[in-house]
Amino acid sequence: MQSWTPNLETGDPDIDNHHQELFQLTAMLDDAIHTQSIEKLDAIISFLEHYVIEHFCEEETLMETHQYAFYDHHKAEHEIFKVHVGELRKVYLEEISLAHVVFAIRKILDKLVYHVRTVDIGIVGIVNSEHHEKSS
Ligand SMILES: [Fe+2]
Repeated sequence: MQSWTPNLETGDPDIDNHHQELFQLTAMLDDAIHTQSIEKLDAIISFLEHYVIEHFCEEETLMETHQYAFYDHHKAEHEIFKVHVGELRKVYLEEISLAHVVFAIRKILDKLVYHVRTVDIGIVGIVNSEHHEKSS
């Protein structure tokens, strides 16, 4: 997973802050592996649980307000992530092994980062139009 770069900015400060936090989870995950800390894995999962509710809701509200053309596709991806994060919590609770949980987190993080790069970036057009509306 690569790190955050400015070309991933949507221009919406809240959304961009959340995306940057998401990228920081990779470092948190590395730290959890290094220290063999199940508590740190728990914290990462908790972050993701909030992310798929609050952050996704924020994006969806913005898209709805602007009648974004690709809303349905974007929303559908969000719904899949909600299911995956729910499954992640189950993996954690099963306590099979730390490595098992790490692998499950890594898989979701990779997909979420890909979503930021390929789908969330579409929000740029909405934010730009908002700025345009305000300045005109
Ligand atoms: Fe999104």
